Amino acid sequence: MKTSFLVICTFFSFFQRFGLSIITSSSNVTCIKSERQSLLVFKNALTRTNNRLSTWTGIECCEWHGVECDRNGHVVKLDLRTRGSLETIKFKWLTGEFSPSLQNLKHLRYLDVSMNGFTSNIPKFLGSFERLEYLNLSGSSLGGVVPHHLGNLSRLQYLDLTIQILPLEHAFDKEPILDDMRWVSSLTSLRHLDLTGMNIGEHVDWFNPVNMLSSLLTLNLGASNINIPSIKYVNFTSLNTLGLSSNSINSNVPMWLSNLTALTHLDLSFTDLRGQIPDYIGTFNALSFLDLSVNHFENSIPDVLCNLSNLVHLDLSVNKLSGPIPSMLGLILKLEDLSLQFNKLSGNISTSLGQLSNLKQLDLSGNSFAGVLSEAHFAKVKKLNYLDLSRTSLVLNITSQWTDPFQLQTFYASSCNVVQRFPYWLQTQTKLQRLDISNSSIIDTIPDWFENISSNILELDLSKNQIGGKMPRFHVDSSKHINGRILNMNSNKFEGSLATFPSNVRWLDFSNNLLSGHVPPTNKTMNPILEYVVLSENRFSGNIPIHFFKVPSIRVLDLSYNLFSGHLPQMDGTMNSSLNYVILSRNDLAGSLVRLCNVSTIRVLDLSHNKFVGRIPRCLGNLINLEIIDLTNNTITGVVPSPLGHLYRLTTLHLHNNTLEGDIPSSLQNLTRLVTMDLGNNLFTGTIPLWIGEKLSKLSFLNLQSNKLTGNIPVQLCQLNALQYLSLANNNITGKIPPCFGNLSGMITHQDDSGYDVYNYEENILAFVKGKQLLYTTTIMFLTISLDLSSNNIVGEIPDALMNLVGLMSLNLSRNLLKGYIPMNIGDLTQLESLDLSMNKLSGRIPQSLTSLTFLSFLNLSFNNLSGAIPVGNQLQTLDDASVYEGNDGLCGPPVSKSCKGNETTYNDVDGDDGRDETKGFWFYAGMGPGFVVAFMGFLGSLHFIKRWRVAYFKMVDNVYTWLSVSMLLNLALQRRNVFK
Ligand SMILES: *[C@@H]1O[C@H](CO)[C@@H](O)[C@H](O)[C@H]1NC(C)=O
Ligand SMILES: *[C@@H]1O[C@H](CO)[C@@H](O)[C@H](O)[C@H]1NC(C)=O
Ligand SMILES: *[C@@H]1O[C@H](CO)[C@@H](O)[C@H](O)[C@H]1NC(C)=O
Repeated sequence: MKTSFLVICTFFSFFQRFGLSIITSSSNVTCIKSERQSLLVFKNALTRTNNRLSTWTGIECCEWHGVECDRNGHVVKLDLRTRGSLETIKFKWLTGEFSPSLQNLKHLRYLDVSMNGFTSNIPKFLGSFERLEYLNLSGSSLGGVVPHHLGNLSRLQYLDLTIQILPLEHAFDKEPILDDMRWVSSLTSLRHLDLTGMNIGEHVDWFNPVNMLSSLLTLNLGASNINIPSIKYVNFTSLNTLGLSSNSINSNVPMWLSNLTALTHLDLSFTDLRGQIPDYIGTFNALSFLDLSVNHFENSIPDVLCNLSNLVHLDLSVNKLSGPIPSMLGLILKLEDLSLQFNKLSGNISTSLGQLSNLKQLDLSGNSFAGVLSEAHFAKVKKLNYLDLSRTSLVLNITSQWTDPFQLQTFYASSCNVVQRFPYWLQTQTKLQRLDISNSSIIDTIPDWFENISSNILELDLSKNQIGGKMPRFHVDSSKHINGRILNMNSNKFEGSLATFPSNVRWLDFSNNLLSGHVPPTNKTMNPILEYVVLSENRFSGNIPIHFFKVPSIRVLDLSYNLFSGHLPQMDGTMNSSLNYVILSRNDLAGSLVRLCNVSTIRVLDLSHNKFVGRIPRCLGNLINLEIIDLTNNTITGVVPSPLGHLYRLTTLHLHNNTLEGDIPSSLQNLTRLVTMDLGNNLFTGTIPLWIGEKLSKLSFLNLQSNKLTGNIPVQLCQLNALQYLSLANNNITGKIPPCFGNLSGMITHQDDSGYDVYNYEENILAFVKGKQLLYTTTIMFLTISLDLSSNNIVGEIPDALMNLVGLMSLNLSRNLLKGYIPMNIGDLTQLESLDLSMNKLSGRIPQSLTSLTFLSFLNLSFNNLSGAIPVGNQLQTLDDASVYEGNDGLCGPPVSKSCKGNETTYNDVDGDDGRDETKGFWFYAGMGPGFVVAFMGFLGSLHFIKRWRVAYFKMVDNVYTWLSVSMLLNLALQRRNVFK
């Protein structure tokens, strides 16, 4: 919002500043016929006008909408810009061909066709409008190579070719290209040049052409993939506005910037700048807007910044700045907006802050500040409406008797030092709309006065405290908050039943409390945009609240870990549903599954740990959006119906612990995206299908244990390069262990997080949102790498090649008919925590290398024919239970009682190797708090808005359901991007 404000300002003041010829429409002139005809041809070439050009009839074209003429009846101005927000633009814009007929308007001085859906390329004839002073093609969807003929426009003062993120796909496909910028140097009158979002590229020389334009006032090159040369002489020293955001400059601030002393507006955000913030910026006396956010600036904030007496907006957030806030901060009297979040700043906050009588927004979050913020810090700060102290150690010491306080609309103090009591001064804040005091060690109940302020609150996050007592009644009159509130009360100690369901909610999370009783009904009128309902981990009981299924806006419904009973609701196929996530696990639900078959929007369906009965309905194959299905632990019977093979988006299939029978249906080979396939603990018969290895190449987790499978292990399984967990245990499998198992590369290395993959990122945000969903989306990341073939009739020897699987953490080959030796190099499996070879016919000595398995905490070699001395040393020393070796009559030495003849005992001291990787994936992503946030911000920063990422990024934003802090972050990031103006 702030940015668009600035843009509008620039726009209006443009005419004053540049003395652009004043164009007055004279109502008394008669339009020139040939120009009128050109306009009509232009209109007729459009495919959609959305009724915008309805006045374009009759002969008086000078009075048509968007058209202005000079005294002689020549069209001099054409303004066809579509106005409005990005979301609404597609309902209003002009689409279709940009007709060449316009080239007849030889007298044009002003042409604005921005924000439209033209399908043509940028026409060359634009270069023939000799009189043109103003040209705005931003977001016009005109593509192709930007014609060099534009260089003929020697009177041009204003040129805007900004790329906008437009709603049509084609806007991306034919993004304009700037292959050469030399023509820019002949635009000798140019004052304003905006190429934001244009992919200029590192190899095009933009600087020298632009450097010829000594009277340039505005230069915006944000997100245009340029490089910044270090040059000797800068010509455009009158520049007021410089925007270089979202380019990878990746150096210190270039020296030539120091000559731009007339700057009022400087945006260097998201540019990978490093080093210190240069002192000379403190000499830019006219500067009112300074954005250095999301860079790598370090050391302290220079004191000289406090000399910038005209500064209104200062953003230094997401850098590595350290030390205290300058004590003279109070000198920047015009300051309205100060953002310092996510740095390494420390110390107390100077009371000079209290002098900033214009301050409206203050963000200190994510720093190491400590000490107390008292009323003195806000002595004159009466206009403050936004205060973020999250993730600092600041204590806000304000009494509830504070007279004449600021009136905050937003107060964020998550993970901050609010100790024990609910902050009572909040009752002075009657305008509060956003409040986050989550994770702040509050052990209290909600005070009575809270209901007075809570009715205004749009976003409320009290999660992760120890707030007890009854849940407040979130009641508002239904005309308020039409966009829906966010209520996040999870992980507290709220108890009792809910009297009513809060109204006008979009996002509600009451999970992990002590709530009980029935869930009160809600309906569309009370909650027209309810999207997200999470009531898991409480003690709710009674029939499953089927009314939620019938709220058409609902996307996420999580009622898991409660005491709900009854049947699923009968879903009507004609219902307009948005349900994506249906998570009902760990309740007492019964009946058949057939009732969900019509809700084709479901992406995640978790019905595990309930009492569902009957067969898997064939119609489940209609839910083609399913990505995850979990029916673990129910009483589902019969064969797996073949239509399940239609669910081609499925990545996770859990059917564990039911009474399914028959063959594993061959239609499942179509599920080529499967990562997790869990069919364990059922009654499946037949052999292990060959297509599992041939077709399901993404499988990482395959569990077929405890079925009635027969036959050999197919060598095709060795093709599963991603496999990290394989269990065939407890079947009737015969034959040998295929030596090619040694090639299962997923078990050889830890799978690293594969860098910043956007789609993974989406999943991980989901994971971050709700720890539990981690189970659904990122199983792979924290899986134990494991191979279990136990309790079968497998014969032959343990192939030496298995010792290649150096990533293995668990190996279980027990209860088979294996003979031969334990491979000598078993010590290569350095990650092994659990090794079970018991109840086979293994013979020979226990290899000495076993002592190098420093992580081994479970070992069973019992009931084989092993002999000789038990190796001694390292971790084996701690596994001193004789039962480990029981039933091997030939073994001797401790811990078995039989002692060895002579000196058979050998010590082998292998140094404890601490070089084990953390299982990085999981902790990297789930490592919540500032680390995550910074990583996430960094990720946004590194997009640089190159096209490929941009598309994917928007997909991501669209898919992730709004979550308080995630959306905050995104807003923050979006606000920063001038691409979004
Ligand atoms: C407009 O034209 C009419 C005659 O065509 C004339 O009487 C009138 O004064 C003109 N008005 C202006 C503002 O030029
Ligand atoms: C500075 O601009 C002038 C024209 O305004 C030009 O002649 C001169 O070459 C420019 N200097 C550089 C270093 O580009
Ligand atoms: C900056 O200005 C100084 C003094 O006017 C001049 O000597 C220097 O060459 C200029 N530097 C650049 C990079 O233009």
